[in-house]
Amino acid sequence: MTTVSARPLDVAAIRRDFPILSTEVNGRPLVYLDSAATSQKPRQVIDALTDFYSTSCANVHRSVHHLAERATNKFEGARARVARFVNVATPEQIIWTRGTTESINLVANAWGDRNLAAGDVVLLTEMDHHANLVPWHLLAKRRGVKLQFVPVLDDGKLDLEFAHARLADDGPDRPKLFAFTAKSNVLGTENPVADLCRRAHAAGIVTVVDGAQSLPHGPVDVAALGCDFLAFSAHKALGPMGVGCLVVGRPALYERMDPWQGGGEMIRRVRLEDSTYADPPLRFEAGTPSAADAIAFAAALDYLEALDPVAIHEHEVRLTALALDLLRPMGLRILGTDDPAQRAGIVAFDVPDVHPHDVATLLDGRGIAVRAGHHCAQPLMRRFGVQATTRASFYLYNTEDEVRALAEGLAAAMEYFRR
Ligand code: ALA
Repeated sequence: MTTVSARPLDVAAIRRDFPILSTEVNGRPLVYLDSAATSQKPRQVIDALTDFYSTSCANVHRSVHHLAERATNKFEGARARVARFVNVATPEQIIWTRGTTESINLVANAWGDRNLAAGDVVLLTEMDHHANLVPWHLLAKRRGVKLQFVPVLDDGKLDLEFAHARLADDGPDRPKLFAFTAKSNVLGTENPVADLCRRAHAAGIVTVVDGAQSLPHGPVDVAALGCDFLAFSAHKALGPMGVGCLVVGRPALYERMDPWQGGGEMIRRVRLEDSTYADPPLRFEAGTPSAADAIAFAAALDYLEALDPVAIHEHEVRLTALALDLLRPMGLRILGTDDPAQRAGIVAFDVPDVHPHDVATLLDGRGIAVRAGHHCAQPLMRRFGVQATTRASFYLYNTEDEVRALAEGLAAAMEYFRR
């Protein structure tokens, strides 16, 4: 990401907004370094949830009573808030989903089933999360599409030469769709989304971007990125769990998408044996949506925007640089690029001869929360010859002292296992 220097974050003030950050775990102050799994929530978001259930709880788009109107207005206001945040022209380009995973499944079903046939190539990457692999595996089984993968280089970056060649291929194996992550949840690598989308579009290839790890950490401008679909979750960006969005970059894409889940809300008229459908985006929102969560997500976006997404990114670069400086001399194997500016907020590592679960358990004893495991990226683990890693991930509320606490905890864990 290109950054213009921003006013630094007031982290002490930010931390006061997050009730959980003043709690203790195992008798020690909580050091929460697992925001890539889910972020903590500021009281503004918690208050928005409580407020909805205290003052406005009703089902949306159904009844005409006062509360239902209020709930619907707030829910649709949240959709418009997301549209502004990601810079698309109309709220109708935002489909509410349960999160990134459901958003990608939606594209694979609603767009994929309609537009892809046996033998068509879907291009993915070796660094993708299971959420951006398995929906395409399922599509391959349903439709017989062929899957190809952009490799990951030893430094944790995509093999862009390979990607460029595949996107420029005009032979029979020309990809029809390219789905890739904007930012790896393991390596932290930030991919050149705008350039990849530009190349894909020049060749008529539809692009699906997994923005789960990018949206929380910096400005995401769909118009500038030029992607066809952007998927993300609220819960990694200070919002509630169980809600997310699929952004449809160009409304014309709706003309080539079929409904994928049927039920209330997505219909126009239903007879016993047939039905017609509501206009998008409701056509893709069967059933009662998580209205309270969507509304609280809008509060999360207000919070993020007030802080300046560029400042958030710069803060995370500083914390990542410190983590790399402290961890590198310790004899760990750190996956990914050495450049903190290209992997802000995520440091995954392997402690030789110690299982990541043991590392994480010892850190937990000091109140430090990290994730250990395959991070829903088993193919990427195999690419680097490990079964699992320990991952520390930083966000706007983390401090340099917390990064130092991680390094001290790791040193103590390594000493424990040496003995
Ligand atoms: N995708 C989340 C992670 O990377 C759950 O931890």
